[in-house]
Amino acid sequence: MQAPDVFPGASPRTLLVLGSGGTIAGLAPRAGDTLGYQAAQVGVAQLLAGFDAPPGCVLQVEQVAQIDSKDMDAAVWLQLAQRCAEALARDDVQGIVITHGTDTLEETAYFLQAVLAPAKPVVLACAMRPANAAMPDGPQNLRDALAVAAQPGAHGVVAVCAGVVHAAFDVRKVHGYRLDAFGSGDAGPLGYVEAGALRRLRDWPQTVPTAGLLARLPAVPQAWPRVEIVFSHAGASGAGVDALVRDGARGIVVAATGNGSVHKALEAALLRAQATGVRVLRASRCEQGRVMGGEGDALPGAGALSPVKARIQLQLDLLGA
Ligand code: SIN
Repeated sequence: MQAPDVFPGASPRTLLVLGSGGTIAGLAPRAGDTLGYQAAQVGVAQLLAGFDAPPGCVLQVEQVAQIDSKDMDAAVWLQLAQRCAEALARDDVQGIVITHGTDTLEETAYFLQAVLAPAKPVVLACAMRPANAAMPDGPQNLRDALAVAAQPGAHGVVAVCAGVVHAAFDVRKVHGYRLDAFGSGDAGPLGYVEAGALRRLRDWPQTVPTAGLLARLPAVPQAWPRVEIVFSHAGASGAGVDALVRDGARGIVVAATGNGSVHKALEAALLRAQATGVRVLRASRCEQGRVMGGEGDALPGAGALSPVKARIQLQLDLLGA
């Protein structure tokens, strides 16, 4: 669905704002509540009503989806990625802001960075409080995201929440309620937005897209290889892995303990799976650090990728990306 421009203008620097839902567009049944609300109720054009564009920019607004991001899927990812690719190719487009739920924001950020590696900024904006909270955080987060997207020289996919800018590779939701809900692990944030100005601490995400990757993704999400995540924990068994193999999973990511260790019963099942041709990847369930391993590891490690990001990477790998 394409909404009309809310701030049409002839300026050469367009910031495209794509709406996808989330708490930033949520409504609580009683105004002022911060729990028990429904995500994805308010259109993105309405979220931007009364906003001034950053200096020298005009805003163009489109509603691409309207979902609670816990229900994110490959179909919406494809829509977002295709819409971004079309817009980024336009000379007048300076950058893109995507309003998004916090729950799977890190997955969308990773996916978009992996398939687009954009030479312009794609900034995910979110909120922890619904739009009709007494003091909603969405408007400030959206303003900060627009400021980052308007930044000359900015590029790559980043997320902005509570004044902190996180790179797509590193960003993780680390709190279920706090306004400052995201972290960048060992890498630390990319920067901060302070009174509308970006204080950048390190480089933007890299901009070397895998040639033609987006065009190679199957248009029908059911055609994407099925990759599931299993968890290693005290008392783990291999029953879930065996069932996934019988059910046709093409890849399995194990959220492993510590530096990639896996319960022996689960490991035995993963090795059986791998022997039948299922791709297995060990990611760490730790919030920080990475899986350090060697060439000889029976089950390959996912490095610093979290289990959910390793799942996306394995899907892309299986697609021959
Ligand atoms: C969602 O992820 O869509 C709901 C939760 C949130 O945005 O904080």
